[in-house]
Amino acid sequence: MYTTHAHVTTWVIAIILFVIAFALYKSGNTKGSKIVHMILRLFYILVIITGGILFFKFQSTFGPALYGMKLLGGLLVIGMMEMILTRIKKGKGTGLFWLLFIIFFVAVLYLGFVKLRMGLHPFG
Ligand code: HEM
Repeated sequence: MYTTHAHVTTWVIAIILFVIAFALYKSGNTKGSKIVHMILRLFYILVIITGGILFFKFQSTFGPALYGMKLLGGLLVIGMMEMILTRIKKGKGTGLFWLLFIIFFVAVLYLGFVKLRMGLHPFG
């Protein structure tokens, strides 16, 4: 039995690194932000690998529809983090991407914690 702990751990760390990288870019700390951004990109890969393992393990048992949406949603959350960081680095606006990030993030949390029934159910 494969648990979701590795996946949850990696995406929580990714979100924390994302917030730190954003704050560093914003404060003009180019060296620090570059390093944190690089580590974050490593965590994207870990999130995708751990999520991919869960996907192949459970979609065949419980059906690919919602799992496909979870996979796509997870990739979009990662995509929005990367868009926000590359745009803030170039001094471009990030408002729309923050909105999309929040929409995809909430959708993915809902799918992961409420709809898909493996792992943790903190909201019952
Ligand atoms: C930052 C991006 C992501 C976030 C915030 C996220 C969030 C979550 C959450 C909250 C859960 C439920 C954990 C649990 O029930 O214990 C979960 C499970 C899962 N995630 Fe992700 N995820 C992300 C990226 C991905 C990616 C990229 C994939 C696919 C490659 C993926 C595939 C899965 C699968 C298959 C599950 C198991 C669903 C279940 O049956 O509970 N996730 N994820």
